[in-house]
Amino acid sequence: MLYWEDGELIFENFALQTRMSADPLVCSILHFCGAWRTFREIASHLSTYDESSVLTTLGQLCKNNVLERSDAERDPRSVGMESWANWNPAAGFFHFSTKDSDYSPDPAIAFAELKRRAKHDPMPLPLKSYSRASRTRLPSARSSGEFAEVLKGRRTWRKFGAEPVRLEALAETLALTFGIQGWVDVPGLGRAAMKSSPSGGALHPIEVYVLARRVKGLKRGIYHYNAERHELEWMRKEIPRRTLERSLGSQWWFARGAFFVLMTAVFGRTQWKYDFPRAYRAILLEAGHLCQTFCLTATWLGLAPFCTMAQTDTKWEEWLGIDGVRESIIYVAGAGTRPTDVRDANILTIGKGTASRSARK
Ligand SMILES: Cc1cc2nc3c(=O)[nH]c(=O)nc-3n(C[C@H](O)[C@H](O)[C@H](O)COP(=O)(O)O)c2cc1C
Repeated sequence: MLYWEDGELIFENFALQTRMSADPLVCSILHFCGAWRTFREIASHLSTYDESSVLTTLGQLCKNNVLERSDAERDPRSVGMESWANWNPAAGFFHFSTKDSDYSPDPAIAFAELKRRAKHDPMPLPLKSYSRASRTRLPSARSSGEFAEVLKGRRTWRKFGAEPVRLEALAETLALTFGIQGWVDVPGLGRAAMKSSPSGGALHPIEVYVLARRVKGLKRGIYHYNAERHELEWMRKEIPRRTLERSLGSQWWFARGAFFVLMTAVFGRTQWKYDFPRAYRAILLEAGHLCQTFCLTATWLGLAPFCTMAQTDTKWEEWLGIDGVRESIIYVAGAGTRPTDVRDANILTIGKGTASRSARK
């Protein structure tokens, strides 16, 4: 991708997450290299420049993955990108250029900065109103009953009890959120899975892995959830807490959760039917459906759920043994038991009264 940023022309290879600024002359080199060219051909194409400076420029372009050498081994991510062909550049650019964002190593500092900003630029209100419109008063909504209580009771928790989560509770959150309830035959196409969340084309691109830290009767470590057999498939040993904390945008409060569900997308499932980049939106929307179902189920079970998208993607993909191109991590949720010293979940504030640094020690 090419774009201007702060007056500089940026060349970005979003597949390999590299970017460089360069003179627009590079466009002419790239255009010329739309077909394989020898150095001699490029040098004579740029005959007004001396050969050594052309060589240096080509070296920089190769180093930044703006050009490829025919004799260099291709990065597996570039090869994998071929499966994204129909979704690129729009969806691929968004997905890959927003991977592995930098998060503040100290969320408390970032939060203090936000509070300073709110003094002159207050937090926006999350509602809209048409003051001049005629109004229809609605019947009051039922707010009691188990279903309503669960909906109203869902909160993001940032403190957890020391008690482990029961294996049955983990099993129920997985089955009711990610489990396959049944299959239906789609004549001429194949078998489609049915789950508690909708899925575009019933293709269910989201896979789920579990990181168990404090689940009674379950060895700590990472598992894959087999959504048909309702089984956990062992993958690897657990992640030390400090490393886990760093891999969640330094959010020490979540690193204390009892278990995590790591939602990844297997893009090829959705790409099989929807060969246009807008379908990428379905992936994100579906992860949202599943995450809400997970949080509600966990709430129903009396657990303390949470979710975050501040994970360090590539690190998690390494731990999960996935390539990050055909399958990539999208969303992280989790839960613990409820703490005995807090009645309600804490609202989003870092410092006094919530999962503070001192609570971490
Ligand atoms: C996509 C998404 C990402 C979130 N990421 C974080 C996060 O990184 N850290 C965090 O403490 N809360 C995170 N939250 C939780 C929100 O802060 C929380 O939903 C919000 O403060 C409203 O509170 P409630 O969930 O208790 O109703 C996230 C929520 C969503 C939907």
